[in-house]
Amino acid sequence: MATFKATAETAAKNLESGRTLRELSDLFTPMAIRVAITLRIAQKIEAGRLTSDMLAADTNTDADILERVLRHLVTVGVLTQNESGQFRLTRIGEDMLVENGKAANPPWLDLETVAGRAELAFTRLLDVVRTGEVAYSAQYGTSFWDDLTRDPSSGTDFDVVMAGGMERRIREIAEAYNWGALESVIDVGGGNGTLLAGLLNAHPTLRGTVLDRHSEPALRTFKDAGLSERATALSGSFLEPLPSGAGGYILSRIQSDWNDADVRTILVHCRAAAGLDGKVIIIDEFASEEGVRCDSEDDLRMLVYYGGKERTLEQVSALAADAGLSVESLRTAADWTVMELVPTRH
Ligand SMILES: C[S@@+](CC[C@H](N)C(=O)[O-])C[C@H]1O[C@@H](n2cnc3c(N)ncnc32)[C@H](O)[C@@H]1O
Repeated sequence: MATFKATAETAAKNLESGRTLRELSDLFTPMAIRVAITLRIAQKIEAGRLTSDMLAADTNTDADILERVLRHLVTVGVLTQNESGQFRLTRIGEDMLVENGKAANPPWLDLETVAGRAELAFTRLLDVVRTGEVAYSAQYGTSFWDDLTRDPSSGTDFDVVMAGGMERRIREIAEAYNWGALESVIDVGGGNGTLLAGLLNAHPTLRGTVLDRHSEPALRTFKDAGLSERATALSGSFLEPLPSGAGGYILSRIQSDWNDADVRTILVHCRAAAGLDGKVIIIDEFASEEGVRCDSEDDLRMLVYYGGKERTLEQVSALAADAGLSVESLRTAADWTVMELVPTRH
């Protein structure tokens, strides 16, 4: 069983701050904050739209009801209101100013993005516990990934959030492994190509392809980075057989989005495409038996959004073994691990 260090820290903090069960579990404060973020209330207050009448006019909402929602944000310390009814941001309220998709204010707080919709699927958690259903798909009748496809701006926001986490670690990942020796790689589920571009910049003889649901974002990245001669992208699915012949098949932050059966399928496709001499390389942050790090929040997010889970290195190795792959090497890159897999020799 993985030790969930983040859980223990949060638990200690909650105990220290004396937060009550009621405060930990209410839905009205998170929903009121999300409504304010979705309506860009903070930006409008900063622009001088200080009263609920002005804010309602600007957001096409009901002034009386908006006032009631904003007063709750006064109660919980996100806004202040003076005697003339004018609202201002508190220090916490200023966090709402960070533009969507960037830095601290992630798109999952905006109720009109796919990620924001995904958080609302948490209201189905009881059904998930009882039946194992994928909450997002049950709630909206379509998978998270299909919804991203339908809403290109949410798809871009998602790519930006993913790329942000990747950019911070790219140097370490590029140095952690002899990527150049693979000659060519396919970054399976490689998103907008941030990782592949970083690897190609660090390894001038390497060539590569991103295979993702859509090729356009990665093609744009490679064009902008002047890498189009060595990098390309394909639209496709890793739940189907993959193009063969590359020296390495990268799976970066893929496994936790999927249930065990799907992870086996994805690994089987990678192994088949890699053949006897190719490598399959998983890049991920693993939960750890020693409590190095595992985030219960991310684990539940994976569960509700996609039916996935946070896994330990041992759990991923076991799924790889089921797919006919053995761990050849493990390297550390920042707080992530680069796991090299080769076909199991009998
Ligand atoms: C968590 S993101 C990881 C992106 C990138 N590998 C990284 O580490 O930044 C998962 C990626 O899987 C892609 N994806 C989801 N379903 C897919 C499928 N069936 N076939 C190929 N890619 C898929 C998504 O579009 C997304 O880019």
